[in-house]
Amino acid sequence: MHTSFSTTKFAALMALASVVAGTNLPDGCARTAVVQSGNTCDDISAAYNVSTYQLAAVNGDMINVGCTNLYPGETLCLGIKDQDCDTTHVVVKGETCYSVAGAAGISVTTLLDNNPNLNTICTNMYTGEVLCTSSHVYVSITYT
Ligand SMILES: *[C@@H]1O[C@H](CO)[C@@H](O)[C@H](O)[C@H]1NC(C)=O
Repeated sequence: MHTSFSTTKFAALMALASVVAGTNLPDGCARTAVVQSGNTCDDISAAYNVSTYQLAAVNGDMINVGCTNLYPGETLCLGIKDQDCDTTHVVVKGETCYSVAGAAGISVTTLLDNNPNLNTICTNMYTGEVLCTSSHVYVSITYT
Protein backbone atom coordinates (compact mmCIF):
# COMPACT_ATOMS: atom_id res chain seq x y z
CA MET A 1 0.00 0.00 0.00
CA HIS A 2 1.41 3.33 -1.03
CA THR A 3 -0.99 5.91 0.11
CA SER A 4 0.68 8.60 2.18
CA PHE A 5 3.79 6.90 3.26
CA SER A 6 6.81 8.96 2.47
CA THR A 7 6.96 11.54 5.23
CA THR A 8 5.61 9.34 7.98
CA LYS A 9 7.65 6.29 7.11
CA PHE A 10 10.82 8.31 6.69
CA ALA A 11 10.34 10.13 10.00
CA ALA A 12 9.67 6.87 11.82
CA LEU A 13 12.74 5.23 10.39
CA MET A 14 14.92 8.25 11.07
CA ALA A 15 13.77 8.32 14.70
CA LEU A 16 14.49 4.64 15.08
CA ALA A 17 17.89 5.00 13.42
CA SER A 18 18.84 7.89 15.75
CA VAL A 19 18.09 5.79 18.79
CA VAL A 20 20.10 2.91 17.43
CA ALA A 21 22.94 5.27 16.48
CA GLY A 22 23.38 6.47 20.05
CA THR A 23 26.79 4.85 20.02
CA ASN A 24 29.23 5.55 17.24
CA LEU A 25 27.98 2.82 14.93
CA PRO A 26 24.52 1.31 15.05
CA ASP A 27 24.04 -2.22 16.39
CA GLY A 28 24.32 -4.83 13.68
CA CYS A 29 26.22 -2.59 11.32
CA ALA A 30 27.14 -4.81 8.37
CA ARG A 31 29.62 -2.55 6.57
CA THR A 32 31.26 0.81 6.98
CA ALA A 33 33.04 3.49 4.97
CA VAL A 34 35.37 6.29 5.97
CA VAL A 35 34.51 9.72 4.58
CA GLN A 36 37.20 11.18 2.32
CA SER A 37 37.75 14.88 1.82
CA GLY A 38 35.20 16.29 -0.63
CA ASN A 39 32.81 13.32 -0.45
CA THR A 40 29.10 13.91 -0.65
CA CYS A 41 26.55 11.43 0.64
CA ASP A 42 25.68 10.48 -2.91
CA ASP A 43 29.36 9.92 -3.78
CA ILE A 44 29.61 7.47 -0.91
CA SER A 45 26.31 5.85 -1.82
CA ALA A 46 27.37 5.37 -5.43
CA ALA A 47 30.83 4.05 -4.52
CA TYR A 48 29.56 1.51 -2.00
CA ASN A 49 26.21 0.46 -3.49
CA VAL A 50 24.07 1.88 -0.74
CA SER A 51 20.92 3.84 -1.46
CA THR A 52 20.66 7.52 -0.64
CA TYR A 53 17.78 6.64 1.65
CA GLN A 54 19.59 3.83 3.46
CA LEU A 55 22.75 5.87 4.08
CA ALA A 56 20.70 8.64 5.68
CA ALA A 57 18.42 6.31 7.63
CA VAL A 58 21.20 4.12 9.02
CA ASN A 59 23.26 7.08 10.18
CA GLY A 60 20.40 8.88 11.84
CA ASP A 61 21.35 12.26 13.19
CA MET A 62 25.03 11.88 12.24
CA ILE A 63 24.01 13.06 8.77
CA ASN A 64 21.89 16.19 8.53
CA VAL A 65 19.12 16.69 5.99
CA GLY A 66 21.28 18.32 3.32
CA CYS A 67 24.23 16.05 4.13
CA THR A 68 26.44 19.07 4.73
CA ASN A 69 28.01 17.85 7.98
CA LEU A 70 30.26 15.02 6.76
CA TYR A 71 33.91 15.30 7.77
CA PRO A 72 37.01 13.50 6.51
CA GLY A 73 37.85 10.51 8.67
CA GLU A 74 34.29 10.04 9.89
CA THR A 75 33.17 6.41 9.83
CA LEU A 76 29.68 5.84 8.52
CA CYS A 77 27.66 2.67 8.71
CA LEU A 78 26.40 1.67 5.26
CA GLY A 79 23.83 -0.93 6.21
CA ILE A 80 22.38 -3.00 9.02
CA LYS A 81 22.63 -6.76 8.82
CA ASP A 82 19.56 -8.31 7.14
CA GLN A 83 18.29 -4.84 6.13
CA ASP A 84 21.20 -4.00 3.90
CA CYS A 85 20.30 -3.42 0.27
CA ASP A 86 23.47 -3.43 -1.85
CA THR A 87 21.81 -3.71 -5.24
CA THR A 88 21.65 -0.12 -6.39
CA HIS A 89 21.30 2.19 -9.35
CA VAL A 90 22.53 5.75 -9.74
CA VAL A 91 19.83 7.85 -11.38
CA VAL A 92 20.79 9.51 -14.65
CA LYS A 93 19.04 12.46 -16.29
CA GLY A 94 15.72 11.59 -17.86
CA GLU A 95 15.02 8.47 -15.85
CA THR A 96 11.72 7.89 -14.11
CA CYS A 97 10.63 5.42 -11.48
CA TYR A 98 9.08 3.38 -14.26
CA SER A 99 12.25 3.25 -16.31
CA VAL A 100 14.45 2.48 -13.31
CA ALA A 101 12.11 -0.24 -12.07
CA GLY A 102 11.75 -1.66 -15.59
CA ALA A 103 15.50 -1.80 -16.16
CA ALA A 104 15.95 -3.54 -12.82
CA GLY A 105 13.14 -5.98 -13.54
CA ILE A 106 11.19 -4.99 -10.46
CA SER A 107 7.83 -3.36 -9.87
CA VAL A 108 7.49 0.32 -9.10
CA THR A 109 5.88 -0.77 -5.82
CA THR A 110 9.04 -2.61 -4.80
CA LEU A 111 11.16 0.36 -5.85
CA LEU A 112 9.03 2.67 -3.72
CA ASP A 113 9.07 0.25 -0.79
CA ASN A 114 12.85 0.16 -0.78
CA ASN A 115 13.25 3.90 -1.32
CA PRO A 116 10.61 5.49 0.91
CA ASN A 117 12.14 8.93 0.44
CA LEU A 118 10.61 8.91 -3.05
CA ASN A 119 7.13 10.31 -3.32
CA THR A 120 4.50 8.03 -4.86
CA ILE A 121 4.67 9.75 -8.25
CA CYS A 122 8.46 10.00 -8.13
CA THR A 123 8.66 13.68 -8.86
CA ASN A 124 11.37 14.10 -6.22
CA MET A 125 13.80 11.61 -7.77
CA TYR A 126 17.00 13.40 -8.84
CA THR A 127 20.03 12.79 -11.05
CA GLY A 128 22.80 11.26 -8.96
CA GLU A 129 20.42 9.82 -6.38
CA VAL A 130 21.23 6.22 -5.51
CA LEU A 131 18.24 3.89 -5.38
CA CYS A 132 17.92 0.38 -4.02
CA THR A 133 16.81 -1.70 -7.01
CA SER A 134 16.67 -5.08 -5.33
CA SER A 135 13.67 -7.34 -5.86
CA HIS A 136 13.80 -8.08 -2.13
CA VAL A 137 12.11 -5.52 0.09
CA TYR A 138 14.53 -4.45 2.81
CA VAL A 139 12.72 -1.49 4.29
CA SER A 140 10.06 -2.47 6.75
CA ILE A 141 7.96 0.15 8.39
CA THR A 142 5.42 -0.58 11.05
CA TYR A 143 2.13 1.17 10.41
CA THR A 144 0.54 2.41 13.58
C1 LIG B 1 28.57 -2.41 -6.67
O1 LIG B 1 27.73 -3.16 -7.53
C2 LIG B 1 28.32 -3.42 -8.79
C3 LIG B 1 27.28 -4.10 -9.65
O2 LIG B 1 26.77 -5.25 -9.02
C4 LIG B 1 29.56 -4.28 -8.58
O3 LIG B 1 30.18 -4.51 -9.80
C5 LIG B 1 30.51 -3.54 -7.66
O4 LIG B 1 31.63 -4.37 -7.37
C6 LIG B 1 29.85 -3.15 -6.36
N1 LIG B 1 30.73 -2.33 -5.57
C7 LIG B 1 30.90 -2.51 -4.27
C8 LIG B 1 31.84 -1.58 -3.59
O5 LIG B 1 30.30 -3.38 -3.64
